Amino acid sequence: MNRKPIFAANWKMNKGASETEDFVKSFITKIQGLNLASEIVIAPPFVSLPKLAETLHSSGQNSQTIQIAAQNCSQFDAGAYTGEVSVMMLREFFVHYVILGHSERRSIFGETDEIINAKMLKAREANLKPIFCIGETLAEREGGQLEAVLRRQVTEGLKGLTEKDMAETVIAYEPVWAIGTGVTATSQQAQDAHAFVRSLVSELYGADTAARIRIQYGGSVKPGNAAELMACPDIDGALIGGAALEPQSFMEIIRNGLEN
Ligand code: 13P
Repeated sequence: MNRKPIFAANWKMNKGASETEDFVKSFITKIQGLNLASEIVIAPPFVSLPKLAETLHSSGQNSQTIQIAAQNCSQFDAGAYTGEVSVMMLREFFVHYVILGHSERRSIFGETDEIINAKMLKAREANLKPIFCIGETLAEREGGQLEAVLRRQVTEGLKGLTEKDMAETVIAYEPVWAIGTGVTATSQQAQDAHAFVRSLVSELYGADTAARIRIQYGGSVKPGNAAELMACPDIDGALIGGAALEPQSFMEIIRNGLEN
């Protein structure tokens, strides 16, 4: 199965509008001339989405080159939900992807599998493509809970999604202990987890959907480890935090990752 690699920058709570504009202008010059046979996605904070869309548009980038993601969305349509942003509001800014279930949303903001599932369904209603994040903590891994945790997150998080929805969904395996720590999973640890996640998708949706779905790795991805990770048969891209804040290192991750 030939799966198109997908590299996504998750800026988390970094970069307002002017820094977003600077990044995009620089990044575009860096990727020019490179044959990047992949999808590139940038997920800025909500308030920087309009500037990202505008800068991409005025740089002559069509949505094929760099796609826009949100880092979250509400599970509700509209109404008295202070501080929330709806999927329809995101659509107005040419957002195609939405990151859901990130471990920071789970652990800091108390998002349960049930809430994440409601957001997944709401995103699909608006035809947004979820980047559905899963991953175990160090204690869970050391306690022999890795597969049980991934099974629960996948089964609960994807409840009610159809095969058609799955064709528009990306999964990101991000071991919590590797996020922002500088500790990357070994390529063997990552490959094993990815193969397991793919087998879960196969159990739920069949072999065809499992063979097609893209599974990104996230957690301290850097230019120096991208090639080795991407060489693993079940790793189809990366979800990058810290190293995607600089245009040069984001470009190098993509370039090195595609070299294998
Ligand atoms: P780092 O690349 O900074 O470890 O963050 C990974 C991540 O959480 C991406 O969503």
